[in-house]
Amino acid sequence: MSYSALAQTNSNKAKMDAFINNLMGKMTLDEKIGQLNLVTAGGQSKTGSVVNEGVEGKIKSGAIGGIFGVWGTNYIGKAQDIAVKNSRLHIPLIFGLDVIHGHRTIFPIPLGMSASWDMGLIEKSARIAAEEATAEGINWVFSPMVDIARDARWGRISEGSGEDPWLGSQVAKAMVRGYQGSNMKNADAVMACVKHFALYGGAEAGREYNTVDMSLIKMYQDYLPPYKAAVDAGAGSFMSSFNTVNGVPSTANQWLLTDLLRKQWGFKGFVVSDYTAVNELSSHGLGDLQQVSALALKAGLDMDMVGEGFLTTLKKSLNEGKVTQAEIDLACRRVLEAKYKLGLFDNPDKSINADREKRDVLTGDNRKFARQIAEHSFVLLKNKEQTLPLKKSGTIALVGPLADNHSEMLGTWVIAGEPGKSVSVMEGIKNVAGNSVNILYAKGSNITDDPLLYKRSQLTQPIDKRSPQDMIDEAVEIAKKADVVVAVVGESANMSGESSSRSDISIPESQRELLKALAKTGKPLVIVLFNGRPLTLTWEDAHASAILDAWAPGTEAGNAIADVLFGDYNPAGKITATFPRSVGQIPIYYNHKNTGRPFDGKGPAKFKSDYLDISNDPLYPFGYGLSYTTFNYSEVKLNKASLKGNETLRASVIITNTGKHAGEEVVQLYISDPVASISRSVKELKNYQKINLKPGEKREVVFNITTNDLKFYNNQLKYDWEPGQFIIQIGTNSSDTHMASVQWGK
Ligand code: BGC
Repeated sequence: MSYSALAQTNSNKAKMDAFINNLMGKMTLDEKIGQLNLVTAGGQSKTGSVVNEGVEGKIKSGAIGGIFGVWGTNYIGKAQDIAVKNSRLHIPLIFGLDVIHGHRTIFPIPLGMSASWDMGLIEKSARIAAEEATAEGINWVFSPMVDIARDARWGRISEGSGEDPWLGSQVAKAMVRGYQGSNMKNADAVMACVKHFALYGGAEAGREYNTVDMSLIKMYQDYLPPYKAAVDAGAGSFMSSFNTVNGVPSTANQWLLTDLLRKQWGFKGFVVSDYTAVNELSSHGLGDLQQVSALALKAGLDMDMVGEGFLTTLKKSLNEGKVTQAEIDLACRRVLEAKYKLGLFDNPDKSINADREKRDVLTGDNRKFARQIAEHSFVLLKNKEQTLPLKKSGTIALVGPLADNHSEMLGTWVIAGEPGKSVSVMEGIKNVAGNSVNILYAKGSNITDDPLLYKRSQLTQPIDKRSPQDMIDEAVEIAKKADVVVAVVGESANMSGESSSRSDISIPESQRELLKALAKTGKPLVIVLFNGRPLTLTWEDAHASAILDAWAPGTEAGNAIADVLFGDYNPAGKITATFPRSVGQIPIYYNHKNTGRPFDGKGPAKFKSDYLDISNDPLYPFGYGLSYTTFNYSEVKLNKASLKGNETLRASVIITNTGKHAGEEVVQLYISDPVASISRSVKELKNYQKINLKPGEKREVVFNITTNDLKFYNNQLKYDWEPGQFIIQIGTNSSDTHMASVQWGK
């Protein structure tokens, strides 16, 4: 930071401190504790069994610091009015919402967005979400979700950026920048809330809310970097996670919330609990509500979401000497600082503007962007004999329970998104191909015929009463009349997301039966896949002609899918979470360790680290994704065979578009460190470049590598590099790379 920027920051901080000191000087103990209370008024969003009551009275008495789960300038305007006019000290409220992948205009689920490997687009998606959310009164979003996840059973893998810490860090930074903009005081900026701190994605057995227990090296090397990146990007707030971290629940974990987050990383914002997570400390076995509330506060938690443990017990704990005034003051200060940073004391109504509410949401431009980012998120998993792109002529049999559907297009966590405003695949195909294509449609199956899965995944579409066989027969009939079958199948929106773990991560059985019958017709079978997680697709990979992974694409789903099906956009997405062959391989991720008896890939072998009944390889590796064109990679060229200390290594490859379509390619750089003081991952992603080449065009892609790219956490948790040999790998995915070796000395 320059001297003048530093001086400016110091003077801003001095002004903020003076303002808050003055305000806190006037506050009663109850009012201070009130600032730590975050409530949901209920109705519009609820992810636990409790909602708060008596909200209006509590605003007036200063017993609430913020409200979440509501939006719209009408409601928020009224609530803010009560706070600033009718509460004794006129302290404005902060208004939070789960804006996860867009607000009104919905973008692909985060796992899909990360597959774009396009930080510009990802940042823009957060910017637009902030513009729309602020147009409806929101000033705080519970996003980004940066939990690394390597277990596809866990439903919330859909909400993050997959398995890689480096890529996850880039996404975390882009999202924070997008939400908070250049200045959080701006009327269209929101404060980001990074969640779920920490390691929530490491839940045992992929079961929701489950225990997390991992070594410190793994934590620092593989799971913590995205949270740290979000701190470095200036994120204003964090949310503590539901899980335990090595025995201590995050929400009462002083090491996590204070030593690591604040002391080691320098985080200056505030920490809110997850939904009733303070109360849930009792189920974790830490004591009654008074006790756990005191523990959470002392650990460094500043705001209590929904459970009102702070509100109802902290005064008593203070009187009994179980918490200190200084601890309450510190938490209160941090909440007030957030409001100050958002400019709410100067302008509590900065985001309450009925004109913006009408004008700035679901605009034509936002929808256009939603279509663009959806196209960029799609991953072509298979394309036998160039089945795709389709011609804009002939007859298509459009089949599947997700083909003529609006309700499932948006994916999980779309609180203010309107499924009715989404574009179905059927509509998209008509929009893009017009009358030149003849479409025959049959639903073919229900999303699931399993009543329990139907209920648990909150399906709203009524189950078709016809027998499964009748539905399949109808689909097969039209398939026989068509040139190609497009089957739109997979998971419904709520089969992933919170509280949606699955032990079987295949396409639901009713739909697989449909696919099997369609495959038997011998017609080219294109699967358009909806999924909130990596699925096991071995049958589909073996039998379909093409598979386009569309995730849950958002408001412009159908248009984006049709653009890609007909080749108006050439897909370039690459998966950011490994697709296993079988659920038994989980956890499976590319940057694993070697073991002392590594499997050499040459076939089953006794006393090697493998399975008797399945190969170690995933079905689709991290970073994998095809294109309608093909790219040739040259060997990796290094400018030096050995170098020292702070020198920079230049690694390059020449990429040639050897196919017939213009296309983008995500060129990926991995580094392996074969000899070190600890056992290192077999390789780690360190950088990438996304390039666009016309047919026949070639381009040199250069990566400048420094010792920063070689660093890792050693056994003393020191982050440094060790001299020796490094293997530089550049390729189209984590399994398919070209390599060159270099010696790097101190
Ligand atoms: C989820 C959070 C969410 C919160 C508020 C919780 O159940 O874990 O991700 O932000 O609810 O809706």
